[in-house]
Amino acid sequence: MVLSQDFKASLEGNPLTNAFKKRISHMPGTAMSPVPPEKTAACWEELKQEERVGPSVMYLHVPFCANHCLFCGFYINKWQGDVSRAYADALIKELYLEVDSPSVGTAPINAVYFGGGTPTALEAHDLARIIKEIRRLYPLAPDCEITVEGRIYHFDEEKITACLEAGANRFSIGVQSFDDKTRRRMGRKVSGSRAIEFFNQLSDMNQAAVICDLMLGLPYQTQAVWQNDLDTVSSLNLDGVDLYALSLFPGTPLDLAIKKGACESAATMQEQAEMYGQGWEQLRTWGWHQLSSSHWAKTTRERNLYNRLIKTGAHTLAFGSGAGGMLNGQSYALERNLQNYYDLLAHNQKPLARLLTPDPLAKVFNSLSAAVENMHLDFDLIGKSHPLASDYLRFIQPMLENWVQAGLITTDKHPRLTKAGCFWHSTLLVALKSSFKSFLAEQETLLNLNCAN
Ligand SMILES: C[S@@+](CC[C@H](N)C(=O)[O-])C[C@H]1O[C@@H](n2cnc3c(N)ncnc32)[C@H](O)[C@@H]1O
Ligand code: SF4
Repeated sequence: MVLSQDFKASLEGNPLTNAFKKRISHMPGTAMSPVPPEKTAACWEELKQEERVGPSVMYLHVPFCANHCLFCGFYINKWQGDVSRAYADALIKELYLEVDSPSVGTAPINAVYFGGGTPTALEAHDLARIIKEIRRLYPLAPDCEITVEGRIYHFDEEKITACLEAGANRFSIGVQSFDDKTRRRMGRKVSGSRAIEFFNQLSDMNQAAVICDLMLGLPYQTQAVWQNDLDTVSSLNLDGVDLYALSLFPGTPLDLAIKKGACESAATMQEQAEMYGQGWEQLRTWGWHQLSSSHWAKTTRERNLYNRLIKTGAHTLAFGSGAGGMLNGQSYALERNLQNYYDLLAHNQKPLARLLTPDPLAKVFNSLSAAVENMHLDFDLIGKSHPLASDYLRFIQPMLENWVQAGLITTDKHPRLTKAGCFWHSTLLVALKSSFKSFLAEQETLLNLNCAN
């Protein structure tokens, strides 16, 4: 194997800060070609008739936000107070459209996730009726995790109670930083002290897992601010915490503000690595249990089921404008344009924007993604994921040896990701997947040469 320079880790200095020059983002999903638009509806109907076997989740997208936080690449629509009822009606209609098909009815659903945007922007009554309809209509497993993601702004006691009474059992709350200056400059609306008060109220209710999202590497988030963010998290009665290193997406308000000089620069990659390492060490010292490169649990209430399952190839039944799903190896996306979404639903059509052809490499890619997500390169599992997987593992041996030498993975028979490996996890996953394609290309060349001879 010729080791691509992008994936060759430097052996100089600390691997946490120096292993690679840049982090390569991993794009979930596959680069398959779309089913032609005129065939999409028929192909979808066929797909729905197939039985769904194995781990499965539901994802419901709520594409509204009170404002566009500067760093965020997920913003789609401005929240207007009167959209709640119409959007909830649409989601419920979509839930009914799917429900009689074998792909939906045949197997348990392990996790339900309301993501956004800001699901907690919906009114209490609307949140409750959507959750109740899901539980009434869909075959949820008895231990199904039901997460409502959101932010503190507009998430009042009435909404929390409505979610809990309807059956939500996990809240994933974006805070990003508790520091008032960082929060204000990034467009967050409530103060750090209000955020602390909110978490105390939520955990005192003792009815659901409470998770806090922190970001690292934001402008104004100095070393002292980050330390305070970590200390605050440790002082709260949380079940889980997520640490996300800032990705500076081109075209986001933050990218534009930095370029205009209207905002301080974000942390460099090396600074991000140091912040991540500091968080990693401190959570370990305080007895948190690491679930993945970005997720930690303090109590057994936090299972992080949805995030884990989507990274390991679970079927994802998607609902809502802008949602993405995956059924029996075929990825799909729903209309991002809200009016198109409503119009298609009004005609009783699944509001599909795109359906991709099945990915022949889905199984092996899922096994690689699962390995990185679980921070454990289980070669036995990877070896069973493709007829040529054992040869592939031999092919990537030089790359794995380089990663061991660089301190990104351990020397175990089935290596684990080290702290540095966790920080660079997306680069490692892209390297593993891209090497599989190079391996197949090499096999094909060999085959052609043999045939020619
Ligand atoms: C889909 S967002 C929704 C969160 C919620 N609406 C909020 O305002 O907190 C989920 C999480 O993604 C993370 N996130 C958003 N933009 C990010 C970026 N540019 N880089 C890294 N993480 C980001 C944040 O931690 C956020 O809490
Ligand atoms: S961080 Fe949350 S509220 Fe802010 S723009 Fe992104 S999705 Fe919307």
